[in-house]
Formats: sequence, structure tokens, C-alpha cells
Amino acid sequence: MSPQQITVSQWEQARGALRNRHLRQGLYDEGAALMSGVIVNLHDAEHTSRRRLENRLFRRDTFAYWEQSLIPQNIVESISAHLSTDSIDLLQLARLTMMRISAGIAGIDLGTDPKRFTLLAEIMGKLARASSVNHFIGDKQAVIDDGNQSLATFETEFFAPAKTRRMLMLEQVAAKQLDAMDLPKDVLTTLLSNQDNLSLPEDTVLREIAYFPWVGSHSTSGAFVNLMDHIFHWLDAHPSDRERLVNDISLIQRFGFESLRLHPASPESVRIAMSDTRIEPDLEIPEGSRVVIDMQTANRDLTVFGSDACEFNPFRTIPSDIAPWGLSFGSGFHACIGQELVSGLEQTSTDTEVPLTGALATMAQIVLQKGAVPDPSRPARRDVQSLRQNWIEYPVVFQS
Ligand code: HEM
Repeated sequence: MSPQQITVSQWEQARGALRNRHLRQGLYDEGAALMSGVIVNLHDAEHTSRRRLENRLFRRDTFAYWEQSLIPQNIVESISAHLSTDSIDLLQLARLTMMRISAGIAGIDLGTDPKRFTLLAEIMGKLARASSVNHFIGDKQAVIDDGNQSLATFETEFFAPAKTRRMLMLEQVAAKQLDAMDLPKDVLTTLLSNQDNLSLPEDTVLREIAYFPWVGSHSTSGAFVNLMDHIFHWLDAHPSDRERLVNDISLIQRFGFESLRLHPASPESVRIAMSDTRIEPDLEIPEGSRVVIDMQTANRDLTVFGSDACEFNPFRTIPSDIAPWGLSFGSGFHACIGQELVSGLEQTSTDTEVPLTGALATMAQIVLQKGAVPDPSRPARRDVQSLRQNWIEYPVVFQS
């Protein structure tokens, strides 16, 4: 008998389901070969200990450095070659910028050869597709096979050399030839140096490291293009707002929150009940049930976001206990570890020792400053082979 499926789409219940510890991750069951043992797929104590370790890397001062120097440098370099009348794809621009950063977070050494980076981007495209294969319309097995092959290439080309280098450095630290402070601050080094407590199989470490570059770059680039699409539509309706937006990054940030709320990277999350449980106030979930959390609908709940919840309105007022991006970064124990990197800190936050406006707003401000407008000769396209309807390309030209 197939498991009972329960869909939750009302705000309170959707958030309650994401925070319920009797429900395990279920989104990646079809892509298990690539996602088994990866943080987002772990449960209970195993998840808590991995998360505690990796949280240490996601520090606000590091984010501030990326936001103020690495992201602008990457974007400006990529755009400058196309500043005449050439068109440039915003999806690719954001994807490659975030892939460099996410690969660094993972612990992959890219070097300076552009061919290596192109290879990594190709591998990550295939891994992203295979890991979220449950949303794919078409030959799922072919996508999974492609993903497995890409993981094998990733292992020989990127993972093995990165691991060897770090193992050597850890040996030097043990022999007091190197200061532990000089070790790379990335997920791979963190996992390898805690191997005594974690005892992770080699292939689990491989999958964890392969996860970061694609999850960090694909979700952010999709969100970036959604944001730019809303900005361009807004400017069509309010042409005089261009200068105001270009000069006010916190306003761009608010546009970003609103765009994220309307378009979660994955419209649904899936959880599996490990035991009988209840989602407050009164939804009983029998053990084994498959709980589908419809985040897209929950994020448009009229009782929380107002009667215009389905509209793009960056100036809406939202109850103070609710994130302006809704559930788009998850909620509770699996909530996105990269959220502050991507969307910064809310202006209302009292914890402002490092002012962060996030990668999305930083990238948007730069392309607006350079005069980006949609390319009239190459309309943007979406992926019709995926239920997610992700963008395939979003060409722009630069007018100033
Ligand atoms: C706009 C960009 C992004 C969006 C919309 C997004 C969204 C999400 C969501 C919804 C979850 C929760 C999944 C669940 O509950 O099943 C999540 C988890 C996660 N995200 Fe993100 N993410 C983004 C960017 C990033 C970046 C840049 C990184 C890292 C470089 C990252 C790393 C992770 C990790 C490691 C988890 C798993 C956390 C855990 O299970 O404890 N994400 N993300």
C-alpha cells in the first residue's frame, strides 16, 4: 500500500510541518544516490552535529568580505567584456559568481585556469538536475545516470586533489609545522579535521562537498533572475524609480525579499513521518505519511500577507514574527545556512555589527548601475521540462 499523502498549504501548518522533529526530509528520496548523508537529508542527532560544525563557517564577517569585494569584483569583470551592445545572460552571470563563492565554502580549489571552472559549472548543472529529479518531467533515469557520472568526474577532478591537499595540511598541523589558524576555512577541512568524532564514510564526505557548489549557485541565480524580472516590470510601470533603486540598496533588498516570498526555489518541501505526530492545531499525521509542504501557497496566505498576497508589493507590512521572504529559506532546524549570505540582514535587526545587504541586492545594484535592460532581441526563457519552470536564460543589454 502506498503511503498516505497529506498536503499542507496554510501558513501556520506549513511552518509547523517544517519545524516538526518527527518529520524527516523526503524531498531527495528519488535522488538518493547523490543526496544520501548530505546535511539537508540528515535527521535528528546526526543532523544536529553536522549543522553545529558547519554553522561555524557561516560567519557574518566572512559574508561581509564576499559581499563587499568578491561579488562586485566577479560581476564587474564578467560584465565589462559585454558593455557595448552585447547581450549577457543574467542567470549565468549570477550562477558563476555564486559558484566561485560556494565552491570556496565547500573547499574546492579552482586555481586560475578558466577551463577548470567551466568543467565544475557543467558538473554542477548535472548534479543540480539529478538531485531534484522528482520535479523532472521526462526520462528520470537518464538524468540520474548523468548525475552519477558527473559525481564520479567531480571526485577525480576536484574532490580528490582538494582532499589530498587538506590531509597534508592537517598532518603538518599535527606535526606542529603549521598553525591551525592557517588551515582553509571550508566545509571539507572542517569535516576532515573532525573525522575522529564523525567517522563519515568517504563517499558521504564526497556528496556533502559536491552539494554546496550547486545548491549555493543554482538557488541564488534563480532567485536573482526572479528579482531582476520583478525590478524590470516595476520600472516599466514606474520609470522614474530607476535612480531611486540604483541608489538605495536596502530598497533593492526589500524587492528581493518580496520576490523570494513569491517564488520559493522549490515550490514544495516533502517530509516523511517517522512516527505518529500532530501539526498544531489539529492536523493528525500517521507514521509513514508523506507530508507535502506547499510553500508557494503558504507564502501567499491572505491571512498573513494581506489581500494582495499574490501580488508583488515590496512595501507590504508583515507581522513582526514573520520573515518577509516567508518560508523560502525553510524554517526550523533545516533552515538555509546561506540565508544571510544571500539576502543579508533585515534593516529592523538590532544585531547590526556587520551591515549585510546580501548577494542578491549586491548583484542587482551592480547590473542596474551598469544600465541593464532586458534584451529586446532575445526574450528570456523558462525550462519547460521541469515542474519548477526555472529560468533557462535571461539576456540583458547595457544601455549606459
Ligand atoms: C536564494 C538562494 C537560496 C534559497 C532560496 C535557499 C533555500 C533553502 C531552503 C528552502 C532550505 C531548507 C530545505 C528544507 O527544509 O528541506 C535550504 C537549506 C540549505 N541551504 Fe539554502 N538556499 C539558498 C542559498 C544557499 C546558499 C548560498 C548556500 C550555501 C552556500 C545554501 C546552503 C544550504 C544548506 C547547506 C542547507 C541545508 C541546511 C540543513 O539541512 O541544516 N543555500 N536552503
